[in-house]
Amino acid sequence: MKKNKNLLVQPFLKWAGGKRQLIPQMEKYLKKIKYTNYYEPFIGGGSILFYLQPHKAIVNDYNKDLIECYKCIKDNYDELIGELEKYETKNNEEDFYKIREVDRKEEYKKWTVVEKAARLIYLNRTCYNGLFRLNSLGQFNTPFGRYKNPNICNKPVLKALHEYFNNNDIVFMQGDFENCCENASKGSLVYFDPPYDQFEEQVNFVGYTENGFTREDQKRLKNLCDRLIDKGCTVIISNSSTPFIRKLYNDKSRYTIHTLIAKRNINSNAKKRGEIEEVLIIGEGKK
Ligand SMILES: C[S@@+](CC[C@H](N)C(=O)[O-])C[C@H]1O[C@@H](n2cnc3c(N)ncnc32)[C@H](O)[C@@H]1O
Repeated sequence: MKKNKNLLVQPFLKWAGGKRQLIPQMEKYLKKIKYTNYYEPFIGGGSILFYLQPHKAIVNDYNKDLIECYKCIKDNYDELIGELEKYETKNNEEDFYKIREVDRKEEYKKWTVVEKAARLIYLNRTCYNGLFRLNSLGQFNTPFGRYKNPNICNKPVLKALHEYFNNNDIVFMQGDFENCCENASKGSLVYFDPPYDQFEEQVNFVGYTENGFTREDQKRLKNLCDRLIDKGCTVIISNSSTPFIRKLYNDKSRYTIHTLIAKRNINSNAKKRGEIEEVLIIGEGKK
């Protein structure tokens, strides 16, 4: 972890399941861990990467649009700001739906990665709850959010991220979580923040991407964690505190399960936020 952290290095998107609010409860565990390389296979909004600000990291997400956006901040910063500035006057319903509809048209295929990244940031700042939701055809379908003054082009934060990515060795990957940490070795820290296991009453709640993350995937993740620990890596896993997850990681020779309290939207009505238990599971690599 860096000693002099830049506080402007912070999430630039609202992302479902963001860990920002949990950092005060996670800090005491994170501070104790010494590591060489950092891996984050489910990067999402990136709260923990930006909190830790490691010098060397490999981060990944299944969401291609999200990863392209990170890469643009790293490689095409000036161009991205230029595109984003064009959106600053467009926080109204008519423009929102016009811009949202573009991915239904042929012309979208010809858009550059920078144009697509700027559109994603604009939609994220202005849509309902910042929810990234695609229909079965891969088209963005979250409605307009009616925010008074959304910060569409947050230059200080984007600039700080651009500098952090370029002054350090930060690699972006896109795909399944297993590929991301194939080369993790003794002394690496791997933080997993997968789509959460769901409580029985939540089964119909909106997913993260077009494809859901099943209990088979949760088991695949646990098996990967076992292998990483046996190689000497330290793993940290966030998840919901369901009986399934507690049982899956009930292996005291490898894991310690800590309980955290989060404020989450407990159903599809964003106004109903409740306190809910989550788990932070830590597995220390064999020394
Ligand atoms: C809980 S979110 C991550 C939240 C993030 N850590 C934060 O603080 O904002 C889970 C992420 O996992 C991604 N995802 C879903 N299935 C995946 C898979 N099989 N491999 C990698 N990433 C996946 C989703 O696109 C989503 O961004």
